[in-house]
Formats: sequence, structure tokens, C-alpha cells
Amino acid sequence: MCGIIGYTGRRPAGPIVIDGLKRLEYRGYDSAGIALLDGDHELYVARSVGKLDRLDAHVEGTLPPAVAGIGHTRWATHGEPSDANAHPHLDPSGRVAIIHNGIVENFETLRARFTDRGATFLSATDSEVIAHIVAEQLEASGDLVEALRLTTLQLEGAHAIVAVATDEPGRLVAARVGNAGGVVVGFGDGESFIASDLAALLPNTRRVAFLDPGEIADVRADGVAFIDGEGRAIEKAVKTQPYDPVAAVKGRYKHFMLKEIYEQPETALDAVRGRYLPDLARVSLGDEFPFDAERVRRIRRVILIAMGTSMHAAMVGRHYIERLARIPAEIDNAAEFRYRQPVIDDETLVVSVAQSGETVDTLWAMEEARAAGCPQLTVCNTPGAQSTRVADGTLLMRAGPEIAVASTKTMLGSMIALHALALHLGRVRGTLDEAVEAEQVAAALRAPAAIGQALLLEPRIAQLASRYAQREDFLFLGRGLSLPVALEGALKLKEVSYIHAEGYPAGEMKHGPIALIDENVPTVALALDDGLRDKMRSNIEQLKARRGPVIAIVSAGDHSLDGVADDVIELPPIDPLLSPLVSVLPMQLLAYHIAVERGADVDQPRNLAKTVTVE
Ligand code: AGP
Repeated sequence: MCGIIGYTGRRPAGPIVIDGLKRLEYRGYDSAGIALLDGDHELYVARSVGKLDRLDAHVEGTLPPAVAGIGHTRWATHGEPSDANAHPHLDPSGRVAIIHNGIVENFETLRARFTDRGATFLSATDSEVIAHIVAEQLEASGDLVEALRLTTLQLEGAHAIVAVATDEPGRLVAARVGNAGGVVVGFGDGESFIASDLAALLPNTRRVAFLDPGEIADVRADGVAFIDGEGRAIEKAVKTQPYDPVAAVKGRYKHFMLKEIYEQPETALDAVRGRYLPDLARVSLGDEFPFDAERVRRIRRVILIAMGTSMHAAMVGRHYIERLARIPAEIDNAAEFRYRQPVIDDETLVVSVAQSGETVDTLWAMEEARAAGCPQLTVCNTPGAQSTRVADGTLLMRAGPEIAVASTKTMLGSMIALHALALHLGRVRGTLDEAVEAEQVAAALRAPAAIGQALLLEPRIAQLASRYAQREDFLFLGRGLSLPVALEGALKLKEVSYIHAEGYPAGEMKHGPIALIDENVPTVALALDDGLRDKMRSNIEQLKARRGPVIAIVSAGDHSLDGVADDVIELPPIDPLLSPLVSVLPMQLLAYHIAVERGADVDQPRNLAKTVTVE
């Protein structure tokens, strides 16, 4: 979860490290810290609890002209957010500084080894012991790379670590152990970088290499050497990544979340471009889909795995795969999938969805699927991320950088990619009617315009938000394709406004959740004209009979709930199968505006991090 940045080179390291941290703050904002090395073997360390602006103010005017430095934004796992628990951590002699992402599962045993010898620890973290071990190994081997390699062998769990030592001020050593988030190395002109995310490097260099689990990078200004876990030199391919400087700034928007909601027509355009072919009335996945027809025909079922918002997108994808490709499809929470000994084999297609491609729960589930020999696809927003390296093929979300912690546009990009995948599978297996494919292709190509129209609902939704902003509980109900949207509505509201919200299949409501309903508990009911509207209407009547306020989301031109629900939000016209692409927008806008009304920190909600790299 934590953000990691490192720099060595010809420019002063301090401002580059701080700037990198600004791009990483969405990964964790409990505290931040830096360690800088000057040419005289001196170590400068600054740490501050809270958001990065506190550190920024703390170091102002004090940064030495360092040749190298490391920085860290923390999402607390062991030890509360505090100055003492902020990274970097040092060994007692101050010779070694480390930053860490992951959990040292055996930290108590490791710490005891040092405290038994009289060593003291200054923090309550699991990470500090890493600095002690690296220093011990450095003393023994005299080499920082070997010291970090031997250290990783003692740590249980998954980790990304960067270590520096005063002996060699221009050298950074980074290790990736297991699936604890990415480590990417950047190659500049007389300078080199290390980071947890590509986004932190791109303003400085687009030439990068990703560490795979078990690999170590020895990073110096004039070059980078790589070794594997056994200490053998390895070659890594350097890739050039595209960079869009506009995508990473807020522009005229008050928050990234609102900007990203408004970017969705463009996300949809990018997601359909080249995949949906109007002339041929079919989809084409090209290189994104690596399996031949014979392999596709051998698939007996599909399992979609993901977490959070990506899981809601995967739930929509499940409907697409069943309805369009007629393959039995299941959806599983990746963290559950991993531990329940799933019955899977090489006839089970596993499709993971992860905007970051670094979510540890999803990566471990993918490893499980790999071990069972399953063919795998991933839907991902981050080219080069770990999930794309585990899967056989990648369908990109094509949403551009998503900075707000609460996902919006990546869910949209995922749903479109999964719709295209379902059409492709259906055609190759001969289970999809040509006319249905043509109809779906045409509908998908009209979707960006419908999404643009849905944004026009914003003023109306802002009014509703101000009416309901002070409520403490919300219910979101849906059926069929609207169920994942209802779940997403509840998740968004919880995340950004801290209101207790529950998403439920509408049919389940009377089996328990209806007990929550009174005049203070509003329900958002997705009652689209998709064959299930009349069932939803009955559920709405049941809520009204208990004096619960209802906001109904309905299809274009549907007035059947006027006078039944308290408020009726009419969506723009869209094919029923693609309705989640527009019905999710009012969910996002409602959560956003309620959060703003409540004065919440929309882009960096408390306790959350954008990329979840610990279990
Ligand atoms: C969404 O708003 C959340 N930030 C979270 O649920 C997120 O979707 C989840 O952690 C999965 O992330 P991923 O897509 O990067 O795997």
C-alpha cells in the first residue's frame, strides 16, 4: 500500500524525492518521510505524521544538496500513524536507512534476536527490524546488495524494500519479495530512479524496467544492475512507457474524483476504439486475446476474480459472459478464492480485474490459478503491472491514470473490456448470434454519447445530495445487471462520505435489511426497464409502506414510478445490457456530492489506499 521513491544522480535528490512522493500520496497518507545522502557520507532524515504537506513544511529550507535519496508515504499496518513509526527507518548506528512496503510476518522473532543483545527499537513497526538486519549483513559482507539479498531470505511475507547506506552515498538497492506491490526502476540521463508506481517516475523518465518477485536492483546514477534471489546477474528488458502529463493534474476540477467521473465519455471512447468494428459489425481483440479457437472451445467455465470496485465490474462481466458467450461463469472475491481450495483446472478460464494490477489478494489468487494450469486473462489499467505479467493476456481498461482513491472511470473501462471479451468468446465458440453481436457492437459504439448525457444529471444529483447529506444510513438495491451497480453505489458512498451504506439484491431486502428502514433511511433503487422493473416496483412499494424515502433510477422515458418513489432519476437511452455503463454515474455523483457536503476529504478518504498490497 505504501508509496516508495528513490533517486540517485546529477540533480539535487531532495526536491525530486519530495515531488515523487506527491505523485504517490494516494497509496497511503498516514505519514511521510525521506532520507537523503550527501557526498560526505552524511544522512539527512525527516519524517512527519499526517499528509505530505506536513513533511513539506517541515523540510522547507533545510534540504541538503544530496546526491541520492529515498522517500516513503505510509499506510499503517503495525504501529499507529506517528512520527516515530514513519519511514525511513535506520539501524542504531545510523549507517543504513530503509523504506518498506509489505508486512514482516515474523518481525517479533526477528526483533527479539536484536533486543536480546540489548538493541533498542524506536518504532512500533514491523519494518524497523529490516534496517537492523541489513546493517548486520552489511557489516559481515561489506556489500549492500548482498546485505539486502541475505536480509530478504530472513523475512517472511511479501515485501518491496529500498536500502541506502552512508558507505556508498550514490547507491540505492531495491528488492521485491513476493507480491507486495510493484517495484519499477527508471533510467535517466546520468540519473536513475526507483518507485512503487510508474506514475511517480514518468515526469522524469519513460524508460523503465519492472522487478519480478525475487529480484534485486542495484541502482546507481550511471546504470542499474539486476540480480535474482540467488545472487546471479540477470538481464531485464527496458521498456518505454507512454506519458500523458495532462491526465495527472486536476485542471479546472476541485477534486480528482470529479475530474475522473467527467472523463468517462473519453474512457468509453478509448475502450471501444479498435475493439468494436462498425464496418464488420463485430469485435476484434487482436493481440489482447492470446488463445486460439481450439483453446477457447476447451473452456468449460469462467471464474472472474477481483476486489472492491473491480469485483463489481467483474460481476457485470459475469452477466456478459453467461448471456453472450453462454459459458458458465462465476465471480469470486480474490481474497476468498485463494484460501478456499478452488476446484479449477486447465479448462477453467480465470479472468482477473484490477486497475492497479498490484492488488495482493488478486495476485495471490492468480498464482493459485497459475499453479492449477488455468488459462488466464487480466483486465488492468496499468501496462506492465504484475497482473499483466502473470496472465497470458491483458485487456487494458484504457482509462488513463486514476488518482482519486475511489475508483470511477476504471470500473467503466473494465465493464467495456469484459463486454468485448464476452462477444469475442461467444463468436469463437459459435454460441453468439451474428445479429446479436452486430446489435451489441452498435450499442457499445453509442455508449460514450450516452455516458456524456448521463453527466447532465449532475445538478439534479447535487440537489439530492444536499437533501440527504446528513443521513447516517443508506440502502442501495438492484437486481440482475443493476445489482453490481447497487453494490458499487454503497461502496462509493461508504468510501468517500463515511456514511454507513448497504448494497443488496432487491429480492433479499425482505429477508432482513428491511428492518433498517424508517423515514431516516433512504434507499437508492435501480429500477431499470430490463424485465425486472416490476419486481423492483414491488420492492419500492414495500419500502414506501415503511415510510422509507426512495430515489429511483429508471430507464429513459419510464414514468411508471413517478409518484411512487420520492425522486425519480431518468437515465439516457442505452441498450439494457450496457445499462451499468450509465447507471453507475448517478452512484458516483451522489457519493461525490454527499462527501463534499459533509466536508470529507474526497480524493484521500481516511484509512484507505489506492493500491492494496497487504492482505
Ligand atoms: C475502489 O473505490 C476502491 N479504492 C477499492 O475497492 C479498489 O477497487 C480495490 O482495492 C481493487 O483495486 P484494484 O482494482 O487495483 O485491484
